[in-house]
Amino acid sequence: MTAPHTVPQLVLGLETSCDETAAAVVRRHADGRAEVLSSVVGSQIAEHAPFGGVVPEIAARAHVESIEAIAEAALTEAGVGYGDLSGVAATAGPGLVGGVMVGLSFGKAVALARGLPLVAVNHLEGHAVSARLGADLPYPFLLLLVSGGHCQLLSVDGVGACRRLGSTIDDAAGEAFDKIAKAMGLPYPGGPALETLAQGGDPAGFELPRMLLGRKDCDFSFSGLKTAAARLAEGVAGEAARRDLAASVQAAIAAQLAEKSDRAMKAYAGEHEGRSLRFVVAGGVAANRTVRAVLEQAARKNGFSFAAPPLAYCTDNAAMIALAGAERLAVGISDPLDAVARPRWPLDEAAATASPTHKAGRKGAKA
Ligand code: KG4
Ligand code: ZN
Repeated sequence: MTAPHTVPQLVLGLETSCDETAAAVVRRHADGRAEVLSSVVGSQIAEHAPFGGVVPEIAARAHVESIEAIAEAALTEAGVGYGDLSGVAATAGPGLVGGVMVGLSFGKAVALARGLPLVAVNHLEGHAVSARLGADLPYPFLLLLVSGGHCQLLSVDGVGACRRLGSTIDDAAGEAFDKIAKAMGLPYPGGPALETLAQGGDPAGFELPRMLLGRKDCDFSFSGLKTAAARLAEGVAGEAARRDLAASVQAAIAAQLAEKSDRAMKAYAGEHEGRSLRFVVAGGVAANRTVRAVLEQAARKNGFSFAAPPLAYCTDNAAMIALAGAERLAVGISDPLDAVARPRWPLDEAAATASPTHKAGRKGAKA
């Protein structure tokens, strides 16, 4: 623990949990306002594209090769040096552990060399605060976190205080986008490619299964949709039909996200009577315009305000990690230099332990 900060903090953020090597410098003012001085993202897409997905060993090696240059580029762009920093925040999980270790070790080295506090940040907490980057979004809020590895609904009450309302029981929404896109022969990463193909397509062109309709909880499931869409993709010929299939898949994923969010909003509103209701969507899938539109509609219908991070902060970046670290430092929380890299690290550890969505031996979402 360090003493709480009441002065502006300048935090270097590092993100290496998947296929982006990212570094950013964020200034958190004493009033809580966040200012992004730089956000550098080095993508490894070209290295993984020939394999149609992220190869963990290639990712880890690429992070090692570029982390120092990317951190220095972030400092240069921000017009500051290591000596000006008040803390270092590095993603410590969940993610591909070889990559996580690279960013976390680099962060530890900077912290040790410069005598700075280190914050070992949960990547999901980074996504959770991403809508607070450059926008006035106070706590508490209801969050839908949708990315390639995660799909969950969380009640976010403050720094490090999250309660899980629902989670995926199989694939994450971004994973469904990626796998269906791959089955349709689209390039990696599939989500954005599928959104482009869907433009002008008929979202009612193909009938796809609607999942878990009988269930009253806020959990998601995309594996049935994925299997049905992959089967349809085999028989689809011609550009118009491909556009229709892409539009139908996108609409089906968006509809499930909206349906479960609607249910969570109703429960959340009941628990927060008389308070401002805010709904936030974050993570890579939040970059999808159809997804944003249906979620915004659901929020308005339930009396919630709607917020989503700017597009650059939807997908993985280090500005969100720097801000999550700065918010922890501001309330006096930091981590020891022997903090470990964690492949799995649920935000709401209590709920995940009490009611696991994945039983031992089954593969599933990372948190
Ligand atoms: O947050 P993110 O960069 O990484 C994880 O933490 O997983 O999310 C990446 C995911 C990928 O599955 C990608 O296909 C998806 O977000 N994604 C999209 C779009 N942009 C990124 N999915 C649908 N439409 C998009 N425009
Ligand atoms: Zn992410």
